Amino acid sequence: MDSTTHGGAVALRRPRPALAHAAAAGIDFQWYFRRRRDRDGDPFLLRFPGLGEAVFTGTPEGAQQLFRAPIAALEPPRPNPIEPLVGTASLILTGGERHRRDRALLAPALHGSRVRAYGELIEESVRFEVDRWQPGTVIDARSAATAITLRVILDAVFGVGSERRAACTAAIGAFLGSFSGPLMLLPALRHGLFGRAPWDRFVAARDRLDRLLLAEIAERRGGGAGADILSTLLDTRYEDGSAISDSDLCDQLRTLLVAGHETTANTLVWALLRLHREPVVLDRLRTELRETSPAANPVELPYLDAVCQETLRLHPPVPIVLRRLIEPFCLRGAALAAGDIMGIAVPLLHSDPAVWTEPDRFRPERFLERRYTPFEFAPFGGGHRRCVGAALADLELRIAVATILARAELRLTPPLRNGGLPRAVPRGIATGPSRRVRFEVLG
Ligand code: HEM
Repeated sequence: MDSTTHGGAVALRRPRPALAHAAAAGIDFQWYFRRRRDRDGDPFLLRFPGLGEAVFTGTPEGAQQLFRAPIAALEPPRPNPIEPLVGTASLILTGGERHRRDRALLAPALHGSRVRAYGELIEESVRFEVDRWQPGTVIDARSAATAITLRVILDAVFGVGSERRAACTAAIGAFLGSFSGPLMLLPALRHGLFGRAPWDRFVAARDRLDRLLLAEIAERRGGGAGADILSTLLDTRYEDGSAISDSDLCDQLRTLLVAGHETTANTLVWALLRLHREPVVLDRLRTELRETSPAANPVELPYLDAVCQETLRLHPPVPIVLRRLIEPFCLRGAALAAGDIMGIAVPLLHSDPAVWTEPDRFRPERFLERRYTPFEFAPFGGGHRRCVGAALADLELRIAVATILARAELRLTPPLRNGGLPRAVPRGIATGPSRRVRFEVLG
């Protein structure tokens, strides 16, 4: 990475001392992003725990350059801290022709037109959770949201009523629970010690989950078809007519299960938190929902849509979008070499004062007043790697918010009702609120 100015190229300052900066980035990266950008300008250089050095931009111009960079010049950064979770064949980790081929296989199963058919199962999953909330009790928003989104992704992938759902739910909980922050950030800890090390527990949990996934795959290959994602993947062929192998399919399914529920769950928690701190917004949304026919498509309700977008703007659960360069590239004047990592700092992009008025305010109306470009608003990333589950996540969020508001009256517990907002901190593979978000169930 060229850190000096040559022929008008932008100079990049290295953060020092490394450890203090890594800790600051890990504890409150939104604040840290802003600090670095204010000090060094955009683009700026950052050292992230578990990732190393990367050059970040938080401007629409930078986002446009990154998303439009030639595909052949890019690959995902490796090693990636989540590699042990998703597996080397995961769509998240492959590049080049392999990525293009696998994406062509996976994307149709998650396309908006297919995903609409999952509306009913999403609503059922939300009802199943909400109908257990007893008036007078207190619920933990993250546990509730995770239960909903895990159920949704399992039903969407395997089909409603899969006999393995309960076993898979337990296996995924154990699997994700065993992949601690230190294991994610310190590859040196990824070694067994006579079955007693954290790594041994993780590997055992992953093996248990994989046995369930492979059993389901074997059963389906034997005949049982359905309208779920797994059936679609089994029916689809690569362009040369071949089918996906069992072990690659296992990695892709694990990827969908992992990428497809914590992200949406954390966004749902932020949406509920924001709504219950803003009575005017909540009232306006309730009015829209009351006046809408139950048959209406939730994705087409303008204010509900605006609330979900505004939540993703202020609280993007995937706050960095990364690419490793295979060829030299110029990002907003900074000369980058092959091997360098460049990224978008999504919270900076989503609060750029040149685009967003009163950027720190939760004001869904802004999405009714203006359309934002994919380079100004990019919670799902962009370009050839844009989130393949975006349509499912969008539908799920809208149905979950609408169903919860229709079936339950909630009140935030005192510390969060009107005190300071929690920070966004790593929560599994996504980020979520630093403090527990609890609601009293009023009815
Ligand atoms: C609110 C929910 C979600 C958010 C904010 C989100 C965000 C993202 C982002 C920012 C990326 C990286 C895009 C890029 O590099 O340009 C990504 C990739 C990905 N997401 Fe999501 N995601 C969400 C939900 C989901 C769901 C529900 C699924 C699966 C059902 C999913 C599966 C994936 C996969 C497989 C990739 C890798 C795509 C590729 O590299 O080609 N995500 N997501």
